[in-house]
Amino acid sequence: MQAQLNKTRRRLLVAATSLVGAAGVGYALVPFVSAMNPSAKARAAGAPVRADISKLEPGALLRVEWRGQPIWIVHRTQAMLEALPSLDPKLVDPGSAVPQQPEYCQNPTRSIKPEYLVAIGICTHLGCSPTYRPEVAPDDLGADWKGGFFCPCHGSRFDLAGRVYKGVPAPTNLVIPKYTYLDDTTLLIGEDGQGNA
Ligand code: FES
Repeated sequence: MQAQLNKTRRRLLVAATSLVGAAGVGYALVPFVSAMNPSAKARAAGAPVRADISKLEPGALLRVEWRGQPIWIVHRTQAMLEALPSLDPKLVDPGSAVPQQPEYCQNPTRSIKPEYLVAIGICTHLGCSPTYRPEVAPDDLGADWKGGFFCPCHGSRFDLAGRVYKGVPAPTNLVIPKYTYLDDTTLLIGEDGQGNA
């Protein structure tokens, strides 16, 4: 009888120890999981992203990702900016009448500061990502090409303000996301500085 009681007590003790052990593991995991969750949730919700443009050379393109989409930042040169107005007659919507950009980017350069273009790098035809072609008059794009973006899927063309050319499958200009400057060399993409996403 006594032996049976001892056996039962041992089993209870083992069970209780295992429970404490399990609870201990659970407790240890909680801080880790809660530390990971906010950023994972924020990413999933499409939190704004910062982009450092301090090393972006004139003429170069920086690619960042926001909400799973490529965002292009192009440091346009003076020559690139000067070429933009000459393209107006060849474009579908040179004045950006279709709201493919925030109101503060409805201007000839479709940007806050003329030298920096910020655009979503997704073709408005069927969603391919166009190629950055900044060179002037390359053989494959023709003597009139002043630099821009070429979509390899079905041949849509966009200028260096993301404005679509006439006669290509893409119907509208590239989308300009909301963004703001946190300082001279840091952009916040996905929010306009007033908290509007
Ligand atoms: S997806 Fe770009 S031209 Fe069709």
